[in-house]
Amino acid sequence: MNAAYTRSDLPGMTPRRGKVRDVYDFGDRLLVVATDRISAFDWVLPTGIPDKGRVLTQLSAVWFGLLPVEHHLLSLDPRDVPLPAGTDVDPLVGRSMVVRKAQVYPVECVVRGYLSGSGWKEYRQSGEVCGVRLPAGLRESDRLAQPIFTPATKEESGHDINIPFERMVEIVGASVAETLRAKSLLIYATARDYAAARGILLADTKFEFGDFEGRPIVIDEVLTPDSSRFWPAAQYAPGKGQPSFDKQFVRDWLETTGWDKNSPPPSLPDQVALKTRAKYIEAYELLAGKPFPWK
Ligand SMILES: Nc1ncnc2c1ncn2[C@@H]1O[C@H](COP(=O)(O)OP(=O)(O)O)[C@@H](O)[C@H]1O
Ligand SMILES: [Mg+2]
Repeated sequence: MNAAYTRSDLPGMTPRRGKVRDVYDFGDRLLVVATDRISAFDWVLPTGIPDKGRVLTQLSAVWFGLLPVEHHLLSLDPRDVPLPAGTDVDPLVGRSMVVRKAQVYPVECVVRGYLSGSGWKEYRQSGEVCGVRLPAGLRESDRLAQPIFTPATKEESGHDINIPFERMVEIVGASVAETLRAKSLLIYATARDYAAARGILLADTKFEFGDFEGRPIVIDEVLTPDSSRFWPAAQYAPGKGQPSFDKQFVRDWLETTGWDKNSPPPSLPDQVALKTRAKYIEAYELLAGKPFPWK
């Protein structure tokens, strides 16, 4: 197994480092390197998860190949951008995407087919999620009669904030807002049916879009364990939280440590990091229907 790769380094270039990805600007294209960093409760943990970045990149690539919408992915080969002399290419392989550079819309496009996470929290308080009224009496993890579009703002620091669709219209305009909603719902339905055929429920998921030459395209990662809640269908039992293929395992462990979530988080024990790695790889293999190449 490889060691965790938590920081990329291209000679003479300074990336924009997100929580998980290092993004290098090559003019009209970007090199997006998914590292093995993991975030939880809005903190990047001091411990990486070996190969996690490869899982995110490879799974996104599988989905980009299936989805009925225009997206940013051009190539998985980092050598398709002019890498600076002396670049160590090996660690980039498998975790890199060469993409079209887009103007990012400042909204997270979330679709929920089940009531969970911040959706469940809001529903308990108000009976609504992002301004969408839902029937009374729903339980945690219940399936919704119709998937709902529940946008959120992108917050530089801290939690994304759920917003009503009307607020999204104010931010990006009615025409873009409606297009992003329709595309998000279409992708959700396509992916939900695909995942269901593999024994996985797609509880909810988040997309990012950007403007490329006047058209909205899907950017970033899609339908990964970091951006989605995947639940094993065989164990589905509403009325409580569900076991999942996302980083719930890490969150649960952090909750046992007494960490206050307001100061730098603790490192993960090897066993927790390895179990988390196994969860990500399992999600990849179930959804992609093929072995993970870097096992
Ligand atoms: N095609 C693209 N064009 C422009 N920006 C992009 C594109 N794809 C991804 N991004 C941006 O790259 C960054 C990816 O890094 P990530 O670690 O996921 O960041 P974050 O901490 O914001 O989630 C995000 O800010 C995302 O909006
Ligand atoms: Mg991100």
